[in-house]
Amino acid sequence: MPLGHRRESLRSLAMELTPNLVPLSRLVGTWAGDGSGGYPTISPFTYHEEITFAFVGKPFLVYTQRTRGADGTPMHMESGYLRHTGDGHLELVLALPTGQVELAEGSLDADADTLTLELDARVWSTSTAKDVSATRRTYRLSGDTLDTVLDMEAVGESMSRHLESRLVRQG
Ligand code: HEM
Repeated sequence: MPLGHRRESLRSLAMELTPNLVPLSRLVGTWAGDGSGGYPTISPFTYHEEITFAFVGKPFLVYTQRTRGADGTPMHMESGYLRHTGDGHLELVLALPTGQVELAEGSLDADADTLTLELDARVWSTSTAKDVSATRRTYRLSGDTLDTVLDMEAVGESMSRHLESRLVRQG
């Protein structure tokens, strides 16, 4: 989409959003791209990721994420709700099909060029799931590029990098 049209559609989206979500207007939409992962206990891997932050007329954004391997095989997915109190405090509640739930809280930083979300989560795992006790997520949006990072404390390891991805705005 030409830059002028995109600015115009972001402006009209910001007018529809509930006031607490206006600082997050640049994030609303679908993002896709490639990522790489690893952990001290596993072999490195790559994936394709698609994330959507959707406004549904309520004062939160609906978050959905899907990933696939290079051959198109489904990998991890997750979904939840992103809440913003309006003053830079964020809350993200997430359900994972691997048997974990994440309760994340953190901060939103915005300047003319960059939007940065930093979230620290307490994690609960079901009795048969891999043990994950905490995650730290960063989403950094600059122009039409969204960089994501996920560190985790899991399976007896201290906080270590699991995922990094670079996504671009779709549509
Ligand atoms: C982009 C999303 C993700 C992808 C593509 C991904 C992929 C993988 C892969 C390929 C493995 C190694 C094979 C396996 O054990 O199944 C793995 C392991 C693991 N992942 Fe993820 N993962 C993602 C997100 C997450 C998240 C959000 C968490 C935690 C909240 C998580 C926690 C774990 C754990 C605990 C292991 C097992 C480590 C071990 O057994 O030593 N993953 N992940």
